[in-house]
Amino acid sequence: MNEIVEQVNYDELIPNNVELADDRRLKRALEQWQPKFKDWWLDMGPEGFQAAQVYLRTAVGVDPKGWAKFGYVKMPDYRWGILLAPKVEGREIPFGAHKGEPAWQEVPGEYRAMLRRLIVIQGDTEPASVEQQRPLGATAPSLYDLRNLFQVNVEEGRHLWAMVYLLQKYFGRDGREEAEMLLQRRSGNADKPRILGAFNEETPDWLSFFMFTFFTDRDGKMQLESLAQSGFDPLSRSCRFMLTEEAHHMFVGETGVGRTIQRTCEAMVEAGISDPHDVEAIRALGVIDLPTIQRKVNFHFSVTLDLFGAEVSTNAANAFNAGLKARYQEIKLEDDHRLLDDSYPVLHCIDGQFVEQQEPALNALNGRLCDDYIKDCQGGIKRWNKMIAKTGVDFQIALPHKAFNRKVGVFIDAHVSPEGEILSQQEWAARESSWLASTEDGEFIHSLMQPSSAVGEYASWIAPPRVGIDGKPGDFEYVQLA
Ligand SMILES: [Fe+2]
Ligand SMILES: [Fe+2]
Repeated sequence: MNEIVEQVNYDELIPNNVELADDRRLKRALEQWQPKFKDWWLDMGPEGFQAAQVYLRTAVGVDPKGWAKFGYVKMPDYRWGILLAPKVEGREIPFGAHKGEPAWQEVPGEYRAMLRRLIVIQGDTEPASVEQQRPLGATAPSLYDLRNLFQVNVEEGRHLWAMVYLLQKYFGRDGREEAEMLLQRRSGNADKPRILGAFNEETPDWLSFFMFTFFTDRDGKMQLESLAQSGFDPLSRSCRFMLTEEAHHMFVGETGVGRTIQRTCEAMVEAGISDPHDVEAIRALGVIDLPTIQRKVNFHFSVTLDLFGAEVSTNAANAFNAGLKARYQEIKLEDDHRLLDDSYPVLHCIDGQFVEQQEPALNALNGRLCDDYIKDCQGGIKRWNKMIAKTGVDFQIALPHKAFNRKVGVFIDAHVSPEGEILSQQEWAARESSWLASTEDGEFIHSLMQPSSAVGEYASWIAPPRVGIDGKPGDFEYVQLA
């Protein structure tokens, strides 16, 4: 453990393993940005809990086997640091037109604008989700869940630091300006919105939060995996370490939805209700009926697919050719990693029919990343269904068809049901409320969001976790309220 702690200098204002002390200009720039970040955190971070002592993990090293320590901390005192995964000596650019050349330690001049844009877009999502989740603390179903929310929030804050470090170290004045802008945009604000659509949506309740961390943080994971292979080595190292933290965010989402499903099924069994569509009776038990959970899945999955951008895209091709953004798990793929002569099948909806068209592989990279994402989602869905089956309730959660409810890409004009039937606009509109949560569904979920803040207490609609955090039990005092 000592050896790990030594890698990160915690004596400075900004903990880091990038020898910040040796770069006085950068250190000054970051120290000027730090109080502005703190102001943003106090303004836009978790509302009403800034004085609470929260049992959080803090990164103290970058060794995958022992990188974090746990302890009580007030969130504004959290040590947000700059941590890069260890440098791989002799690393080469693994894909694109520069494949085989030494990885760049400085910004390649010809790709400067493209690289900056990629970093800004990634960076913008990090504070955006903290803003979206700001009010949730007031209705947490337990101290355990409250702590998990705050852990995700402080780490999204650290991910912002990771991107701001890259901007300020490598992009001079415009990098510093972009770093300022990252603190000025606001999720859902009409005048200065966050860059991507899904990051301007509200997160109105805890089920939405769990869905967001399962579906939308997983998009984050896919993007980070692609950037972790970047030929620009500092970006690669930043993203590799961020992925270590991201795993917990997906855990929070999968187990959060899973525990909600678990509680619903248990309550149904206890009450002797066998029909999952007997909504009124099920809701009267103070739990969320499975068809509503399915509608939430439909929504979060489809808006998250839109985040991948158009399936067929020259921007994605350019970023790949440039060696900046790879495919998911690029180095595990067996091909030439240049893709100049390859094709990839992309599904289209043409004249009322689905048609698979072979597109140049380079242009279809977003479509491919979507497909990889869908596969990655399946694991969690399967585990939820196993859990339902175990209780004896007859219901299965399913991912909707990828053409369902799309606002970006090849399906933008198509009207497709979750099962994949192609419909007219009228038919689609008539059935929309059975596929996407209605205002009434939202109000019902909202009515259940009563806070549980006693140690070991859990709200009516969610099962306790099977194990706690850091080996602690479910009734540990994860947050000491001020
Ligand atoms: Fe993040
Ligand atoms: Fe995340």
